[in-house]
Amino acid sequence: MTAPTDWFVHDRFGLFVHFGIYSAGARHEWLKKRETFTTEGYQKYFDHFDPDLYDPQLWARDARAAGMKYAVITTKHHDGFCLFDSALTEYKATNTPYGKDIIAEYVEAFRVEGLKVGFYHSVIDWHHEDYTRDPVHPQSDDDAFWERPREIANYREYLHGQVRELLSNYGKIDIMWFDFTPPTKTKDDWGSEALAAMVRELQPGIILNDRIAFPESADFVTPEQYQPKEWPTRDGERVVWEACQTLNGSWGYHRDNLDWKSPEMLVQMLVDSVSKGGNVLLNVGPTGRGEFEPDARAILAEIGEWTRVHGRSIYGATAADGVEAPVDCRYTQRGDRLYLHVFNWPMRHVHLPGMAGRIEYAQLLHDGSEVFVQDSDPHAQAQNTAMPGHEGVTTIELPIQRPDVLVPVVELFLK
Ligand code: GLC
Repeated sequence: MTAPTDWFVHDRFGLFVHFGIYSAGARHEWLKKRETFTTEGYQKYFDHFDPDLYDPQLWARDARAAGMKYAVITTKHHDGFCLFDSALTEYKATNTPYGKDIIAEYVEAFRVEGLKVGFYHSVIDWHHEDYTRDPVHPQSDDDAFWERPREIANYREYLHGQVRELLSNYGKIDIMWFDFTPPTKTKDDWGSEALAAMVRELQPGIILNDRIAFPESADFVTPEQYQPKEWPTRDGERVVWEACQTLNGSWGYHRDNLDWKSPEMLVQMLVDSVSKGGNVLLNVGPTGRGEFEPDARAILAEIGEWTRVHGRSIYGATAADGVEAPVDCRYTQRGDRLYLHVFNWPMRHVHLPGMAGRIEYAQLLHDGSEVFVQDSDPHAQAQNTAMPGHEGVTTIELPIQRPDVLVPVVELFLK
């Protein structure tokens, strides 16, 4: 059982938000595991969690201006902390100094800004007393910790109960994004079949990702922090997919990590995804005060300046079947227009394989300025030689000056 994904495939670009008490630690959302914190030791982040500058409307505006059309936020990450006012736990935002339901505010603000809303929810839980041992747990090496018996059935009931809350109490939700199944856990631990059925019953039309070890229920697959080499397939059929990417390698706020990807690289990733029929979910980890940090905002703004002008090659576009992209380029296609994304600006000419007689008109997309196309190789012609392999090649002539945009695009109108 799956859901229609038309809007998702059209929209192509979303915001991922990793926010939680780890944002106060400011050194990656896995710090409880990485530093083998006990729940008591980790309590200081709960006790001091007060994102007083949290204003989801500002997040939503930044996302919209970046060209993002939907968002997915952590409702609970692996540490078990809940950003929503769950009746099933005391370990939640409403019991921190902040005192409010972060998820309710998020849903409202993003809807107002016209973005679709999704929930990330960790099926892993490093806080729940009945969660059973696995290698990613912070206490995985501590035998004494596991002496007390634990009942995964109790945890499973909690997991299902919280998903029921999330999908009953916040209106329409567009995406459910579960994360993830460690090697020693199975779909039976999560009750994945019943879980997926409940998700669909409570929110008909919601689309569901692929991380509960039950691929039959997935509407899309989620390569993480890499770009697949081609459009992924299952049993020979192309699948809907979304690459999730970070700005600096960390999902949660990481103060001292300055490994920022350039806006150019990030736009190239978005283009690369669309050229292979996929989406990008780009993450921001807000600070402990609840803001997007200045570097993240600046990157989003630059991406937004690109998408503002080049949206035609992204939204509603997909892989261009049957045409081979020139070296250092990516094609996307929307109807009878082909978009040539030039990652590495060449000296004057780009040769387009297999396009002879197919192009009616061509222009640079950022300013709508004509570029000349000819079904021959101008160099070979000038020297009156026959360049082997260049017979009938299609050539476009670009200006020497690279356009001052993150990724220049040539819009090709097909005959
Ligand atoms: C992971 C990590 C994580 C992050 C996520 C995003 O599997 O555990 O911290 O939330 O993927 O895709």
